[in-house]
Amino acid sequence: MTEAEMYSVYKGLLVPSLLHTPESLKYFEDFVFRPDDIIIATYPKSGTTWTQEIVPLIMSGGDPASVETLPNWERVPWLEEIQACTFNLEQRASPRMLTTHSPYNMMPPSFFEVKPKVIYVTRNPKDVFVSSFFYHRTASFLVNPGPQTDFLHKFLDGKVMFGSWFDHVKSWLNAEDNIMHISYEEMILDLKDSVGRIAQFLQKSLDYEAIEKIADRCLFKNMKKNNMSNYSAVPREFMDQTKSEFLRKGIAGDWENQLTVAEAEYFDSVYKDKMKDVKCTFVWDLK
Ligand code: A3P
Repeated sequence: MTEAEMYSVYKGLLVPSLLHTPESLKYFEDFVFRPDDIIIATYPKSGTTWTQEIVPLIMSGGDPASVETLPNWERVPWLEEIQACTFNLEQRASPRMLTTHSPYNMMPPSFFEVKPKVIYVTRNPKDVFVSSFFYHRTASFLVNPGPQTDFLHKFLDGKVMFGSWFDHVKSWLNAEDNIMHISYEEMILDLKDSVGRIAQFLQKSLDYEAIEKIADRCLFKNMKKNNMSNYSAVPREFMDQTKSEFLRKGIAGDWENQLTVAEAEYFDSVYKDKMKDVKCTFVWDLK
């Protein structure tokens, strides 16, 4: 299949057609939010699945029932994806937990009226790129990434699913109210502290023991064993994890093993230019 057949263009963004149909995108646009909804928003490969494990565990006070029985895409569904409309979200009890890869400016009208809580997870874009490169080899519904340098240029030009990392992150940095920004790197550095902070943002009071238990469950090595979160339930024809596992390495800084010096330098020059108007400093900027 050609790229034009595999991806659709939705308001200027490339989205994989298999998961995003005109009907599912219409469902997203018309979605009616509730003030107590909890939204996980990410650019793909930034730690979405990880947060889809952490948030339900926080909201259940550590009870693992939902993360043990519901696949992550049903537990915290992507609003724009094809399955969302089959989960009867209108009937789900509050607080609903939902996911999106949408940039802030493309959120549906109801989102701006209701202003639900949002957890926006960022990750070092070099690691996002590496994770994405491997994922594109695994997922049959994504275009073959081709040689790494070619894919790097596409990534930096925003000619990949959900567009430019820079535009996405900047859009959510401009978001008003009710948003918690957290990075993948902070979660790697101190998961207990991150779980505690997310719980505080969600106004869920948890004792130290509960936070410890949740963080332990969400460690890479433990979460990798959860068949409801490691995508082992997805048929191999869609995701061939013999090529690369979905929970692949789970570390910060893998780009150092993967990018050539020339690629890293080029990445840095584009990053510097695209991020020159951004005031905040990310964890990875400090290195
Ligand atoms: P790697 O490919 O670098 O290993 P997303 O869910 O947004 O698609 O992101 C996937 C990335 O998050 C993968 O990165 C995956 O391994 C990582 N990830 C998932 N669960 C994790 C966990 N519990 N701890 C650390 N990283 C995790």
